Amino acid sequence: MRSTVNVGLIGFGTVGVGVARALLEKGHLLEQRIGTRVVLKRICDKDLKRPRPVRVPSSLLTTDPRALLRDPEIAVVVELIGGIVPAKTYVLEAMRQGKHVVTANKALLAQDGHELFAAADRYGVDLYFEASVGGGIPIIKALRESLIANNLNTILGIVNGTSNYILTQMREEGLSFHEALLEAKRHGYAERNPSLDIDGHDAAHKLAILALLGFGVRVRLSDIHTEGINHVTPADIQYADELGYCIKPLAIAKQVDHELEVRVHPTLLAKTHLLANVNGVYNAIYVHGDLVGAELFYGRGAGQNPAASAVLSDIADVARNVAMGMARRVPAYCPDQKRLRVRRIDHIETRYYMRFLVIDKPGVLAKISGVLGRYDISIASVSQKERWAARIVPVVMMTHEVREANVRRALEAIDSLGVVKAKTVAIRTEAPRGQ
Ligand SMILES: NC(=O)c1ccc[n+]([C@@H]2O[C@H](COP(=O)([O-])OP(=O)(O)OC[C@H]3O[C@@H](n4cnc5c(N)ncnc54)[C@H](OP(=O)(O)O)[C@@H]3O)[C@@H](O)[C@H]2O)c1
Repeated sequence: MRSTVNVGLIGFGTVGVGVARALLEKGHLLEQRIGTRVVLKRICDKDLKRPRPVRVPSSLLTTDPRALLRDPEIAVVVELIGGIVPAKTYVLEAMRQGKHVVTANKALLAQDGHELFAAADRYGVDLYFEASVGGGIPIIKALRESLIANNLNTILGIVNGTSNYILTQMREEGLSFHEALLEAKRHGYAERNPSLDIDGHDAAHKLAILALLGFGVRVRLSDIHTEGINHVTPADIQYADELGYCIKPLAIAKQVDHELEVRVHPTLLAKTHLLANVNGVYNAIYVHGDLVGAELFYGRGAGQNPAASAVLSDIADVARNVAMGMARRVPAYCPDQKRLRVRRIDHIETRYYMRFLVIDKPGVLAKISGVLGRYDISIASVSQKERWAARIVPVVMMTHEVREANVRRALEAIDSLGVVKAKTVAIRTEAPRGQ
């Protein structure tokens, strides 16, 4: 059994600093718990001059990634620079050198995960990536190990804290989307360019990883129907509330017949749903399996320490494997035995919330419901709200389960009616299951 495992870290930014600090400050605790000494041997970053809130011996620091990748004493490379280039090159080179890899890089895994998993197989090394989804929440380990005996049928994730914070602020403080986004920036919850978060693409990266682990299905990012949250208004949040729902930014993977639905969009969720009280920057992943039933994994989805917690858990797993002289104990994912295909968005069926902005005069409702009827969309409830402006009134409808393609065609027809004064807001609902 090897008693010391050396680690090299590439990327000394937010998460890298958290990992270095935790390894330096908690190294002894980790050693006591796993029975192996984990030593931070090298840290590489392209900018070493920037002040950082952690003191590390200068002998550890380098700007040259080869100083880690070619060091035969380093057994584990931790990639924390993010993005595709050059992170992918470094990860592949580390594996080629026989090193195990820990990464938090969801964008890289979502885009090129298969290439990395194949390389890990080829070189007989481990690839761990707990921090890539849900920050400090141990969802990857749960899916790869704890739930291995389950056939999952649903994964619903609130996996982007920025979007969840914005929708929460809109509901609790009555802010507009733009006001809530400014608040998120002021608190450091949103990047200066927050488009990856609010357009849903960050959540789509995470969903691709969850779908692979949960269902064994390789999902391309282009297969994931992805919508942002910027068309949701405080009025819609209020109307949804009156109907017994909240609006959450959901990443959804679920099996329907022999297909897998994968989509990211704001969703009406019954206030009784387990995910309904996941507010602010918190993340949660709801999983439903045939043996366990419903489970909820909840916690901080981002931030220096939660992400460092996940990275250290991976380092501990890999260090244990190295110490025991083994690798590949846990495969990256289990391939799908059921050969599920990704369902085209046009084919999904959900209940819809629709909010029309129309001229307040007799016959308007009949026109709208006539179009809906033509496309086989049946209405579950209708209510007319307070006027927004002279003669302009919102009408809110809930539909029964309807086919997506029909909704799209019906709304195109409705929005071209002269009596309809703005693009209709349409939000899918998620029915509670097995809680
Ligand atoms: N932040 C979180 O809460 C969080 C949570 C979970 C997962 N993650 C993931 O963790 C990874 C790191 O995120 P982060 O927030 O720590 O990012 P970050 O603060 O931007 O840190 C990245 C660091 O890597 C450096 N770097 C960039 N390119 C490099 C290169 N070619 N060679 C050496 N160093 C390079 C950057 O330097 P410059 O600043 O000079 O470019 C920066 O110091 C990402 O994949 C992210 O998705 C982050």
